Amino acid sequence: MGRLSLFASLALSLLLAVGSAEAQLRVGFYSKSCPHAESIITEEIDRAIRVAPSIGGPLLRLFFHDCFVRGCDASLLLNATSSSNPTEKDAPPNQFLRGFALIDRIKARLERACPSTVSCADILALIARDVVHADQGPFWQVPTGRRDGFVSIASEATQLLPAFSANISTLKSQFNDVGLSAKDLVLLSGGHTIGNAHCFTFTTRLYNFSGRGDNSDTDPSLERNYLAKLRAKCAQDGSDALKLVEMDPGSFTTFDNSYFKLVAKRRGLFQSDAALLDDADTRSHVIHLAESDNSVFFKEFAGAMVNMGNIAVLTGSQGEIRKNCARVN
Ligand code: HEM
Repeated sequence: MGRLSLFASLALSLLLAVGSAEAQLRVGFYSKSCPHAESIITEEIDRAIRVAPSIGGPLLRLFFHDCFVRGCDASLLLNATSSSNPTEKDAPPNQFLRGFALIDRIKARLERACPSTVSCADILALIARDVVHADQGPFWQVPTGRRDGFVSIASEATQLLPAFSANISTLKSQFNDVGLSAKDLVLLSGGHTIGNAHCFTFTTRLYNFSGRGDNSDTDPSLERNYLAKLRAKCAQDGSDALKLVEMDPGSFTTFDNSYFKLVAKRRGLFQSDAALLDDADTRSHVIHLAESDNSVFFKEFAGAMVNMGNIAVLTGSQGEIRKNCARVN
């Protein structure tokens, strides 16, 4: 290698090193610029969960739905500025999301404390951690320093968010596309230990699995007693389509490993939950988590959340710090 090209390649490595250092999130990003940012969020979430315990599920789900589309950049929170340009929020998979008003309240409080400092993308990441902790799950350090994106497109959410009917190869490839492993898929599906689902997300499994629609047309991978319970809750004629069912019956506001015990017993609610048993690798993770105590799930879930929180983040001078999470500045 000539002197000049050696110099050029050294300069390039230095640039890349600086670039990637800048691109990294870090724990305590706001410790000087907004020292109370994290405690303000925790306080608001603790209060919200005391008043409405079922809000934990929707808030955790928001972070997943944000990160899978254009990365964790709060693109999910942007409102459409015209009906011809629907945003992620308007997409069918996001139709029943909740928690936006609470986010606006938290953001307004953070703006009063430290104007234009704390990103909406970081607020979503910190809220996700805080609801899990408030629901008796683990606490972990959340790397921060994300910035907010400018773009939000409904069709991208429809395309990129995994469907409740997804099979294991689709799930693995959708996770792989955003840099997450099969193990992350299993661990993060454990988010279904809290929250509710509408009947329409699983009634095909109960009544019309292969399109015949007769009384025996049920999903063979669904355990019989659980099937009967679900049928009693969700009628075949669709009149219960919007009725809510606890995803982890009996402990739907408690974050624990019971989701994996249920999935292992073929009592996962969605086809996507049941699908985790259809692959040797994901199946062995499910069994391992079902048979270990909560502490194993807690530690590994925290790691998977940090991995999800790294998806295509904007940092440094990219993006912006929105003043209002629902619109670009
Ligand atoms: C693996 C692919 C996934 C699929 C196909 C999926 C699908 C769904 C569906 C269909 C619902 C019910 C929505 C409704 O009826 O309103 C739901 C709820 C939920 N999901 Fe997932 N999900 C997946 C992964 C995740 C991940 C990674 C997390 C977070 C770590 C998560 C957290 C939740 C939570 C907390 C709820 C309850 C929301 C509520 O109570 O309103 N999900 N999911």
